[in-house]
Amino acid sequence: MASKHQAPKGTFDVLPTDEAARAAVTAAAAARLGAAGYGRIETPAFEDTGLFERGVGESTDIVRKEMFTFEDQGGRSITLRPEGTAPICRAYIEHGMHRLPQPVKLWYRGPYFRYERPQEGRFRQFNQIGAEAIGSASPLVDAELIILLARIFADLGIPDAELLLSSLGSPEARAGYRDELREFLRDHEDELSEEVRERIDSNPMRAFDSDHPGTRAVMEKAPQMLDRLAGEDAEHFAEVRSLLDDAGVAYTLDGSLVRGLDYYNRTVFEFTCDRLGAQSGLGGGGRYDGLVELLGGPATPAVGWAAGIERILLALDTPPEPKPIDVYVVTGEDRARAFGLVGELREAGLAADLDLAGRSFKGQMKQADRSGARHAVILEPDGTAKLRDMSSGDQREVDPGSLPAELAAAAR
Ligand code: HAM
Repeated sequence: MASKHQAPKGTFDVLPTDEAARAAVTAAAAARLGAAGYGRIETPAFEDTGLFERGVGESTDIVRKEMFTFEDQGGRSITLRPEGTAPICRAYIEHGMHRLPQPVKLWYRGPYFRYERPQEGRFRQFNQIGAEAIGSASPLVDAELIILLARIFADLGIPDAELLLSSLGSPEARAGYRDELREFLRDHEDELSEEVRERIDSNPMRAFDSDHPGTRAVMEKAPQMLDRLAGEDAEHFAEVRSLLDDAGVAYTLDGSLVRGLDYYNRTVFEFTCDRLGAQSGLGGGGRYDGLVELLGGPATPAVGWAAGIERILLALDTPPEPKPIDVYVVTGEDRARAFGLVGELREAGLAADLDLAGRSFKGQMKQADRSGARHAVILEPDGTAKLRDMSSGDQREVDPGSLPAELAAAAR
């Protein structure tokens, strides 16, 4: 049926039939991350615009083109959060979490908003699961987080997620490399897209992310930071790689991996899945040792990742189906009796339902079948009751009084 209104472009409704698969993603994340000492955090869906301008970076696509920004009634500039890392660093600072034992390990799940061109796997409101470990510079934490995300994908039945791994080094080391890259880009200026040319000064590394054919061809020959790693940056990266090797997590080194957010240093990574087509990024993240300080907190190293729930769902071979109810109660005339029994069955912990639309006896039987319930209880006018096994069609007389306990025991 056509309504006068539709969900805004690039957004979608999550219907009850979709929920089982989504709940499975959240449960897999909660189980793996909870067992590794990560506590769940929730931050608001909107924040002061300045948090993202500073945190994500003025020259990123997210800040330049993709934020839903508006003025509230009090004249403040507000932005629907495009990502979760800057808000979590804001919360870390605001709640004095640097006084807790470090690192503080947090995970989250929620909606994020980016004004992107909608297509399969790309939406304007989408959901992420994410994890951040704030307050440790150890490569153990980088490896822990990457391994956890690999395990979550495997638990969910995405065994073919490919892990791309790189290191951007420290900001000081990168400064020299960026000059080298700028020079290289200037030498090839005519072959680059206008957007990349405009950002040669402010953000030369964005050129690696371009899908402009000319730029891509140039970037294949571009110098990469990965080949310039030295000193502690190189040691850190070697340690992360060796920990992943020991854990049996395979990866491909990819020196063109720069990620679309400006806060990263050292380790960066992305999981991709070929079956997803153009939007192949399942999840990604990296180290962001300067972000807490940039946002006004103490100098605090940190690392984390986020993964798109809708992308994960697209990558699942067989998404989990909603669980059917246990029992459907069918009655002739006495609706109140059926209502009472359904209440008792629910109290006993069973998923139970009855007709609420005034259907005939036959209509109710059809509904019991459609509900997928394992059993139907048929209440007879003389006060007796029958229990019907919906798959075999076998029926036997039962005592309605002992039915809740009996069915609850059978369901266990
Ligand atoms: P991101 O790579 O921008 O990283 O997003 C993470 C994931 O969110 C992507 O890999 C993708 O699965 C999903 N995603 C992003 N945009 C969309 C969209 N428009 N529609 C559907 N899914 C989308 C971050 O957000 C960082 N905060 C990750 C991080 C955490 N880094 C350190 N800690």
